[in-house]
Amino acid sequence: MSAKSSAPQSQAPEAGGAAGGTSPADAWWRSAVMYQVYPRSFADGNGDGEGDLLGLRERLPYLADLGVDGLWISPWFPSPMADGGYDVSDFRDIHPMFGTLADADAVLRESHDLGLRVIIDLVPNHTSDQHPWFLAALAGGPQAPERARYFFRDGRGDSGELPPNNWISAFGGPAWTRVTEPDGSPGQWYLHLFAPEQPDLDWTNHEVLEDFDEVLRFWFDRGVDGLRIDAAPAMSKKAGLPDADYGGVLQFRTVDWDDNPHWDVETVHDIFRRWRAIADTYDGDRVFVAEAVVSTAERLSNYLRPDEMHTAFNFPYLKGPWEAGALREVIDATLDSFTPRGIPSTWVLTSHDETRPVTRYGRKTTSSYFITDGEGEVPDLALGTRRARAAAMLMLALPGGAYIYQGEELGLPNVDDLPDEVLQDPMFLRSGGQMRGRDGCRVPLPWSGQEPPFGFSPQGVRPWLPQPAGWRELTVEAESADPASMLQLHRAALRLRRELPGLHETGLTWRDSPEGVLDLERGTALRCVVNLSRSPYALGSEAVLLSSSPLEDGALPVDAAAWLHVG
Ligand code: NOJ
Repeated sequence: MSAKSSAPQSQAPEAGGAAGGTSPADAWWRSAVMYQVYPRSFADGNGDGEGDLLGLRERLPYLADLGVDGLWISPWFPSPMADGGYDVSDFRDIHPMFGTLADADAVLRESHDLGLRVIIDLVPNHTSDQHPWFLAALAGGPQAPERARYFFRDGRGDSGELPPNNWISAFGGPAWTRVTEPDGSPGQWYLHLFAPEQPDLDWTNHEVLEDFDEVLRFWFDRGVDGLRIDAAPAMSKKAGLPDADYGGVLQFRTVDWDDNPHWDVETVHDIFRRWRAIADTYDGDRVFVAEAVVSTAERLSNYLRPDEMHTAFNFPYLKGPWEAGALREVIDATLDSFTPRGIPSTWVLTSHDETRPVTRYGRKTTSSYFITDGEGEVPDLALGTRRARAAAMLMLALPGGAYIYQGEELGLPNVDDLPDEVLQDPMFLRSGGQMRGRDGCRVPLPWSGQEPPFGFSPQGVRPWLPQPAGWRELTVEAESADPASMLQLHRAALRLRRELPGLHETGLTWRDSPEGVLDLERGTALRCVVNLSRSPYALGSEAVLLSSSPLEDGALPVDAAAWLHVG
């Protein structure tokens, strides 16, 4: 399919970028605030307890009113849901649970009509084990040419009973699973860096490369404004698949990995160059967002060279502790590495993979380098909420783009006491219950009313994960009526972000401040002060535009942030 295909088109808002690859300094994605929709848990339009595209369409005005610039939709493709939709069985269709391609077109059209951009999730490192390619590879036996699209290898040991190498899976255990061949004999092994239901594709295979070129065109032709690239550094493996040196830590801590044979391998960049060339044939400034957790800001910036991806989530920022020094360090390191190269940062505090900030910032250990870090600690949710409010204001004051994960704007906590029998995350299932996994941050949103399902589904329908009764105070309806709510704080900050002059520009200026206080200026009008010290901080005479907690005699309380008008 060519870029000029006749597939349903939907006009992107203010399509400003010229076809051919120029990305103007004021391109939309350089400073956009995007809202992550996890479709299964956003809104249930057809009343079956699962979120869907009809529900999303009904709630698009909510997102426009919130003041974000667009949405990133987590995978909406057909999937057996062995990993929450990140196990895709058809990259060119919509999961029946969510709707149809016509519904997807309607989401794109109606979002664009409201001035919202739409990025969708592409999961190219692996397919579902139910993808026709993988089924054909299994059915064809060891000599089948279809096996070349994946990593099928003979095992080690006398009778091939040992995995081909020592690689580990992100969800625990070895990254290899042995198949039973069509004749019933124990056979080859296949590689899966994630769950066994997610076999890795071999990106040196031309059929894989060419088919995904068409997948990209399929969605760009339908009008998506960009693609978030799942597990980008996983896509290339070192030739020969040599053993990895994990330094004795058998966990997927990719930030600690250097020269790893299955992560951040140099040849991965060839794929992104190829994709960028495709994106650049389209008008409207279509973008790629990398999900790339790598060891340094320097290595991350390699994904963001002018002929590769446009932006990447800032994971060191997301994972770091609630400490002034650490925050300043990661902000400075990011800007020092990115700004001279003309790359904007993309700040983010959480996602469908992470402990929600209200919970994390209420723990003794506020950093989270691995999803299980801090599991089991009882959070102080009042403290966590105060900090999460301040953290939101800091994030939205920084130069570049930002992502808000659904429910973050409501201050939802993680639901850490979901009963075992409802948990679905492969992390929980594969660790034999040792790790709770990520279901606690994926509980369906509370929209309205006094009791579950809180307007997520029609009354009387049970959502796929149960919502806590206490969420009656955290519904969109309740928070809309409360001027001091987390939702109103987000609405106010997003409005100011649009109105204040100069915030689209890069760079910030740090003001002198005592230890524990972050004090920065942006554009020509904004000063943002965050107090992470142990005592209130006097603010001076500038007009306060917004604060995350009420000031005390003109001073900013501990764990609070304020935006002030300067100039
Ligand atoms: C990152 C996604 O965000 C996560 O949810 C998923 O489990 C893995 N990649 C594997 O696709």
